[in-house]
Amino acid sequence: MVKTYYIALIPGDGTGPEVLREGIKVLDAAAAKFGFKLAFTEFDFSAARYLRTGETLPDSAVDELRKFSSIFLGAIGHPDVKPGILETGILLKARFALDQYINLRPVKLYPNVETPLRDKGPEHIDFVVIRENTGGIYTGHGGATRVGTADEIATQLMVYDRRTVDRCLKYAFELKKKRNAKDPKYAEKPITLIHKRNVLTHCGDLWYRAFEEMGAAQYPELKRDYNHVDAANMWFVKNPEWFDVAVTENLFGDIITDLGAMIQGGLGVAAGGNINPDGVSMFEPMGGSAPKYTGKNVINPMAAIGAAMMMLDTLGETEASQAIEAAMVAAMQQMKSQAAGQMGYSTIEVGDMVADLVAKG
Ligand code: IPM
Ligand code: MN
Repeated sequence: MVKTYYIALIPGDGTGPEVLREGIKVLDAAAAKFGFKLAFTEFDFSAARYLRTGETLPDSAVDELRKFSSIFLGAIGHPDVKPGILETGILLKARFALDQYINLRPVKLYPNVETPLRDKGPEHIDFVVIRENTGGIYTGHGGATRVGTADEIATQLMVYDRRTVDRCLKYAFELKKKRNAKDPKYAEKPITLIHKRNVLTHCGDLWYRAFEEMGAAQYPELKRDYNHVDAANMWFVKNPEWFDVAVTENLFGDIITDLGAMIQGGLGVAAGGNINPDGVSMFEPMGGSAPKYTGKNVINPMAAIGAAMMMLDTLGETEASQAIEAAMVAAMQQMKSQAAGQMGYSTIEVGDMVADLVAKG
């Protein structure tokens, strides 16, 4: 029997629909080649819909999304919408309601892709950040009083419980084990916990003890390392080759993964997954809605194609996912740059090229 995956599409705003279209093109090519089916259903959650109706992501939509195999997101955002509304109303709502507790961010520099790091190449930049995705400061605990007065007080608390920490660490250790088995070059490197336990003595201590205990009891064969987050920033730039799997809490992960995106070649190529290992995951290019490039056929769809690759890997279509990666690598060899408007190809041409390479592969 042919396997069918049901994919919810949220093209969103700006260049989101353009890059998603190319991702779908590549997914279709992979499905045809590797003998599975994809059934797409489009949803219009976006800034545009919010501006029209006042609605972000209603509860009924969350229940609807729960029925899918996966979610493929373009980008959400509009200069006319106040910061915070769409983030909490759509993106964070989906993450929390669907319990996508892992934010998976590969930081991999492909050949012929430019990095701002001098003297660093693909052999130096090939790691994965596991960002905890449902806890910490993002839970919204806290509040504000005396707002608008000189005595205004605001708090926003870093909230973690052991279960939330443990399930994230479990995912990270398992991924590390898989990578070590795949290639001995990964096995030489440690799994790194990133936090700030010299100052955040409660949350940092919780993460550190959980990391050490799980590592010693269940993964004694894996090397463990720990970095304070400020230092990790320095090492990402100076010695990215030290990292293989890095695991961290939510806000620190948010910050260091943007640094990661830059060293892997920028927003044209950086993709991420919001993963519920037992449920519905959501994959997206990191680039945002890029209003100034909208409708010009100049934006790089490679990040969306990378998100599609991650989606197939998570769905268990490993071979198809690897074929997409190989096609991406071959296409990147042809491209002049990964920056919008400087690729030497249009958005559509890049999508065509990768899809053809998958089909021929
Ligand atoms: C990300 C984004 C989101 C985050 C925003 C848009 C809510 O920056 O996915 O990294 O902070 O997690
Ligand atoms: Mn971010």
